[in-house]
Amino acid sequence: MKLAVVGSINIDQTVMADRIPNKGETLPGHDLQFVPGGKGANQAVAMARLGAEVSMFGCVGNDDNGRRMVENLRANGVDTEFVKTVDGIPTGIAIITVGDNDNTIIVVAGANAAVDRSYIDSMKNRLLKYDMVVLQHEIPLDTVHYVVDLCSEHHIPVVLNPAPAAGIPAEVIEKTTWITPNEHEAALIFGTDRTMEELLLAYPEKLVITRGSKGVSTALASGRILHVPVRPAKVVDTSGAGDTLNGAFCFRIASGDTIEDALRYANTAASLSTEKFGAQGGMPTATEVKLALEKEEQP
Ligand code: RIB
Repeated sequence: MKLAVVGSINIDQTVMADRIPNKGETLPGHDLQFVPGGKGANQAVAMARLGAEVSMFGCVGNDDNGRRMVENLRANGVDTEFVKTVDGIPTGIAIITVGDNDNTIIVVAGANAAVDRSYIDSMKNRLLKYDMVVLQHEIPLDTVHYVVDLCSEHHIPVVLNPAPAAGIPAEVIEKTTWITPNEHEAALIFGTDRTMEELLLAYPEKLVITRGSKGVSTALASGRILHVPVRPAKVVDTSGAGDTLNGAFCFRIASGDTIEDALRYANTAASLSTEKFGAQGGMPTATEVKLALEKEEQP
């Protein structure tokens, strides 16, 4: 089972504070680090840590950050053969504030903007050899829709984590196997005129909504709504939790788990990921998830 992520690679400038500042407010920070990130790279690392065979498709700048980010992917067991280094644009950067069990993120795309149709065309024959392709919204949307089309034409399951939120054309929704927004993204993409249950039932076994401290929900083809509650955690940093959930869900569903098992697994993996600093810092191994799941099942 070979998984491909077509997505962003960033360096995260992450600062910890007691809470996230309000508009116009200045707060003291108490830790600042530059750590690997990018929703694409994070999801690839989440999968690889869990034992998946995964390749990253994306771009970095010809700079120290880019080299460090590629080296980090490799060190985590992600295949980087297809990552392109582009001249004249810096590696993507995210400015993250972490505080009080939450975070805010601003992303400057940099080299991620070079993940365009011509890059995909140059990689097409390789990309179409994968068993599942995973996308986010941190590369040009045109590329995201192009890859969904390609995958659909070639009957390759494709998962879209639409973060950050942006409209998804109806035909792209139709061609996507799974769409995994968080609650805010779901509201922006699908509107707020339906309850969450109504929305899930409109897209059974396609739409998975991650709900932070309320867990994760989807609708089964039978019409049953499945809510997987959050696993309690000693939260240090929530950045990357959604990426862990997405990566783990893709890996498990591609490996043949039922939707329920894949979501439980992914939910636990995401919760474990919040217990350490950095988007990738707390991403668990398969053994760590297994142990946590066993503990959860104990009476
Ligand atoms: O989802 C978390 C990620 O979003 C961070 O690693 C940051 O790079 C932004 O892309």
